[in-house]
Amino acid sequence: MIPTTNRIVIIGAGAVGCSYAYALLQQGLTGEIVLIDVNKEKAEGEARDLRDAVPFAPSPVTIRSGGYEDCSEAELVVITAGLAQKPGEMRLDLLTKNADIFERIITEVMAVGFDGLIIVAANPVDILTDITQQVSGLPAERVIGSGTVLDSARLQSALSEAFQIDAQDIQAWVIGEHGDTSLPVWSMASAGMKDIRSIAPAQELDTIFQRVQSAAYDIIQQKGSTHFGIGMSLARISRAVVRDENAVLPVSARLNGEYRESGIYIGVPAVVGRTGIRSVMDLPLDETETRQFAHSVRTMRETKHALP
Ligand code: LAC
Repeated sequence: MIPTTNRIVIIGAGAVGCSYAYALLQQGLTGEIVLIDVNKEKAEGEARDLRDAVPFAPSPVTIRSGGYEDCSEAELVVITAGLAQKPGEMRLDLLTKNADIFERIITEVMAVGFDGLIIVAANPVDILTDITQQVSGLPAERVIGSGTVLDSARLQSALSEAFQIDAQDIQAWVIGEHGDTSLPVWSMASAGMKDIRSIAPAQELDTIFQRVQSAAYDIIQQKGSTHFGIGMSLARISRAVVRDENAVLPVSARLNGEYRESGIYIGVPAVVGRTGIRSVMDLPLDETETRQFAHSVRTMRETKHALP
């Protein structure tokens, strides 16, 4: 039974985990945040620093460092631990090392009787989410990856800037792998209810998407890592859970027949609420998008099966 403790445990007190914690604090999304890290001193220091922000937060929240025992009563465990991309490195290159780290983490989490939801935010996120579900044995709907929530936000921002239209009025989704095989769903994209493809030529739209797809590589080249965008993306997914919003978000969800695929985690629009993923939206993709999505799924399957 999913606990109602309003406790969120963040495993990994690095830049992503702490950006996420800060977003939770700023938005008043939870009453208790626990930071777990192999570097206990770092976790405690981050918790202390975040506590200094609490007086300015919209609602009271206790923030502390802790251990795996704190997962037993947690509503949500969010895993941000693991190696991050170095400049020029692909997300898929991190798989072998992060898979080992995840197996150890999930074993510890489940050993204390955790029975809530897990959100995964390390790369390659689709495959690590799949591994998390398999190792934890939790129902697939309660194991969610950050998916292409960040990619879609990047695309909406880029289109907003190009068209000078508020990003809130741009509907544009990126689906597939959170990585080099992701794809934009132009056939269902709109700006102020107008078909995106009637606003800009295909060439311009694809140039915009290429910039979105390479955003992480560019930012990592400039500052060494990304964390604010993914931190806010995790807060958005968490909000859908803790407020039982039934929000449609392009998270990494396990397909069960949708898009004529099964048994693989990948970024697709899904209805997210307090019990996790309620349903996956099976979009009527056009021919190009269907082909690109199938390629992305195939890439995930092949990469997962290549694991030792
Ligand atoms: C990025 C990381 C989260 O896209 O993969 O910024």
